[in-house]
Amino acid sequence: MSKLLIKGGKTLNGSVRVQGAKNSVLPILAATVLCDDISTIHGCPQLRDVSAAVKILECLGCRVKREGDTLTVDAKCVSAADLPDSLMRRMRSSITFLGAITARCGRAKMCSPGGCEIGIRPIDLHIKALRELGIRVYETGGYTETEADRIKGADIHLDFPSVGATENIMLASCLGDGKTTIWNAAKEPEISDLQDFLCKMGAKIKGAGSDVIVIDGVKKLHGAEHRVIPDRIVAATYLCTGAMCGGEINLTNICSTHIKSVISVLKDTGMIIKEEKDGITLKSNGRILPIDILRTMPYPGFPTDAQAPFAALLSLAEGTSVIVENIFENRFKYCGELCRMGADIKVSGRAAVIRGVKRFYGACVTAMDLRGGAALVAAGAAAHGETQIDGVNLIERGYESIEDDLAKLGADIKKD
Ligand code: EPZ
Repeated sequence: MSKLLIKGGKTLNGSVRVQGAKNSVLPILAATVLCDDISTIHGCPQLRDVSAAVKILECLGCRVKREGDTLTVDAKCVSAADLPDSLMRRMRSSITFLGAITARCGRAKMCSPGGCEIGIRPIDLHIKALRELGIRVYETGGYTETEADRIKGADIHLDFPSVGATENIMLASCLGDGKTTIWNAAKEPEISDLQDFLCKMGAKIKGAGSDVIVIDGVKKLHGAEHRVIPDRIVAATYLCTGAMCGGEINLTNICSTHIKSVISVLKDTGMIIKEEKDGITLKSNGRILPIDILRTMPYPGFPTDAQAPFAALLSLAEGTSVIVENIFENRFKYCGELCRMGADIKVSGRAAVIRGVKRFYGACVTAMDLRGGAALVAAGAAAHGETQIDGVNLIERGYESIEDDLAKLGADIKKD
């Protein structure tokens, strides 16, 4: 298993281009099965989760070709509707395929996605919504199976603005009979990106980005070409790392409106941020101010996926900060590893109390989840001494080239 080796303490300067958004590519790849045609998706990062989604498409009978960051999906011959357990286990967000496969094939079968390192992550909101669309859903023996003669439009109110459930409803209903309205829909930028792609395929959807999305079912969809939005969480991670290491970094291929809440918090910690047309620059004067209370919230609130990198940043603040994790019930597991590097963090339930320390010290640590692993990388880059990070495969699920990107900014980091 590869490791990351970091000799910390270097200030970061320079510019890197941010990859395409993992959480946009995945539902858009699921959407390609909705038509018996060819679709081309640009800006697809080389990630374990994207490779898993490609394997799912191939399992269904699609032919997928990658050329650089472009994936071409030929979905003319979708011949299967059952996903192998191994693929479902590799990536729980495969659940987003459920709606699309059911809409294309009239049925689907997949093993119920397990929980993961950040929480139980049930799919009750997905199941309830699909049933309201007239889809029969059976959950037996650890499998989720669907059957649908016709998918009919429905008025669906989500108890929680679930990103995945919103995506599943959009994917399942765009070929349905009649109108579907999603109330209390997720508003994340990835939802708007999915709407843009589906509309290019001929779907009639509007409202993404607001909490009410209206889908008018159409008879048929066709292939489309699309470039996914930049990855706002990768951008947030790199900005945090720059803030922790000092110096001035510039990120290109970033949409700063997607990270308004992140920018606001970075400014509160004392960072100087300049938003340009296609990029954003962060300048750190070496001081980091604490944040009394930082709450993760559904978009446009502060993103839960940036929580771990910000905990690393606030660990170096001149005072005490509190982070409250309102989205997932178990998303502080990485804090133990940060404490091995000298952080002073106490976790109680959904709150972490972070007392700022002078510095991180290099240590041997292990990534336990994707974003927690990224936080360890940021801490290692800022630490005094050498850090070895195991569990790099988890980080590779969401970061295409974190070691190359940070090395471009001056960090002494390599994959072993
Ligand atoms: C998406 O997960 C993202 N993943 C997550 O990013 C992100 O953290 C999350 O949205 C929130 O923004 C992808 O897009 C692939 P949810 P998703 O449904 O769709 C509960 C990363 O690091 N819930 O909005 O699974 C759930 O347990 C990943 O890139 C139910 O209770 O998130 C959680 O507490 C991590 N029942 C909350 O809602 C359901 O049926 C938010 O989940 C569905 C969700």
